[in-house]
Amino acid sequence: MSDNSHGFARGLTQYGDADFSLYLRRSFVNAMGYSKELMARPVIGIAQSASGFNNCHRHFPELVEAIKRGVLAAGGLPLDFPTISLGEAFLSPTSMKFRNLMSMDVEEMIRAQPMDAVVLLGGCDKTVPALLMGAASANVPSVLLVGGPMLPMAYQGERLGACTDCRRFWAKFRSGEIGKAQIDDIEGRLATTAGSCAVMGTASTMAAIAEALGMSLPGTAAIPAVHADRLRAAEASGKRAVELVAKPIRPSQIITAKAVENALRVLLAIGGSTNALIHLTAIAGRLGIKVSLERLNTLSDETPVLIDLKPTGQHYMSDLYAAGGLGAVLRELRALLHLDCLTITGETLGERLSGAEGYVDRAVVRPIADPFLRQGGLVALFGTLAPNGAILKRSAADPRFFEHEGRAVVFTSLEDLAARIDSPDLDVTEDDILVLQHAGPKSSAAMPEAGYLPIPAKLAKKGVRDMLRISDARMSGTAYGTIVLHVSPDAASHGPLALARSGDRIRISVARRSLDLLVQESELAARAKALAQPATLPLRGYDRLYRQSVLQAEDGCDFDFLRKA
Ligand code: FES
Repeated sequence: MSDNSHGFARGLTQYGDADFSLYLRRSFVNAMGYSKELMARPVIGIAQSASGFNNCHRHFPELVEAIKRGVLAAGGLPLDFPTISLGEAFLSPTSMKFRNLMSMDVEEMIRAQPMDAVVLLGGCDKTVPALLMGAASANVPSVLLVGGPMLPMAYQGERLGACTDCRRFWAKFRSGEIGKAQIDDIEGRLATTAGSCAVMGTASTMAAIAEALGMSLPGTAAIPAVHADRLRAAEASGKRAVELVAKPIRPSQIITAKAVENALRVLLAIGGSTNALIHLTAIAGRLGIKVSLERLNTLSDETPVLIDLKPTGQHYMSDLYAAGGLGAVLRELRALLHLDCLTITGETLGERLSGAEGYVDRAVVRPIADPFLRQGGLVALFGTLAPNGAILKRSAADPRFFEHEGRAVVFTSLEDLAARIDSPDLDVTEDDILVLQHAGPKSSAAMPEAGYLPIPAKLAKKGVRDMLRISDARMSGTAYGTIVLHVSPDAASHGPLALARSGDRIRISVARRSLDLLVQESELAARAKALAQPATLPLRGYDRLYRQSVLQAEDGCDFDFLRKA
């Protein structure tokens, strides 16, 4: 009686009698009111991360309906199930702490529930990497659909969109350029539709990476959340998931070393988020693929930035969609890509790109012969301050700090930063280097997006807009400035960053890819001896699992036991 090959017969609940297990399960499926005909169809799971605590996923109920429509029309039975949702602005201390938890939820629920294929529905920053990490580990045929970006909104002769403009206006408010009434007015105009942040932040970067990897349908990364094309993409994703049942393509066939390198190229060419490097590393790590920061530097030197989008440029994601979408970028990069990579459609990337080019707005997507920037957006730095690496988003940085030596002004924690950054007594000049410790993955802060240290109030009021800032934290993909992030090993692991003191000299050379703490080795050894022992682990729950298991940035901040050996 038992047929465990597909649909509800997969992965039976264990009672010691497989036939009874199937009988019981079908009894309960009957309770859902499905006809025998629908019950016999392939089951397509829809892993959806809607939540009242996630504004970016506000429209997911409508997208789920459209996915279901596509599944039903193609002969499958769609069953959606909730996953943990990670709303970027709603989680404390940071959504990053819970990305791995969501990935475990996704992996286990895909594996434990009877589904032949799955549509993964995410959007906000950490949800797409968590879905891809979980799907890569479960290795069931999967199609990723992102929720799409918000639309920008007109405001006093310009357009505003979360969240580069949030930071831009907040900096103006801190410096006294605009007052309380205006900043309050702007608050209601920055994020006005459903969808993820409107610029090339982390969510948009991850959407582009998912399409570049081949895990999403072509042309879907940049469709605005509220555009009818987004619903059509949902329907098509559902249909494709059903097709994958007869001819399975698994994540491990798509996310290969070559596909990961293609995704790195795209990350560089779109001036994408620094966070995406961590996430891509974690996704690749689930399939035993290593992302090398040295290789990133080589690719970065060869790969120009092709798009003019905030926070690096001027436009928004909806402009990228209208300009030709990610396909236009991929076609420009064609000579640099591995074209034999398989995508979720069953085509290779080369086959995908062999179609007609269509309209491309060259103000948004530049030709490779005339790029927006000659070199890629990200560069890895190594040296005595960051033996395992650190990341600078050079496309969003001020080149006058690329070869710089300065005096460190050190903040030992986020609390110390909050307490002193705006103090009139803070001993700081605009040539100093702001350093933040204990905001890395192993810290109790769990690597928040705190690397965008505010300019000290007394300098901001004088018109200083950028300084060199260094930390083991992350930075929002929507932020900009000369900011060195992900210093590894982090301070909580007693890396050299923990040894820096105010008054030390630090030297950065982007040309040499170096970041050095200019302090005698004997002095550093003495400081290392004096460091307090790491705090004892929290006693229970996810806190404990996180602190025991999280890896450094160069390993994607995944848990050690989740990566493929
Ligand atoms: Fe969800 Fe920015 S807050 S993508």
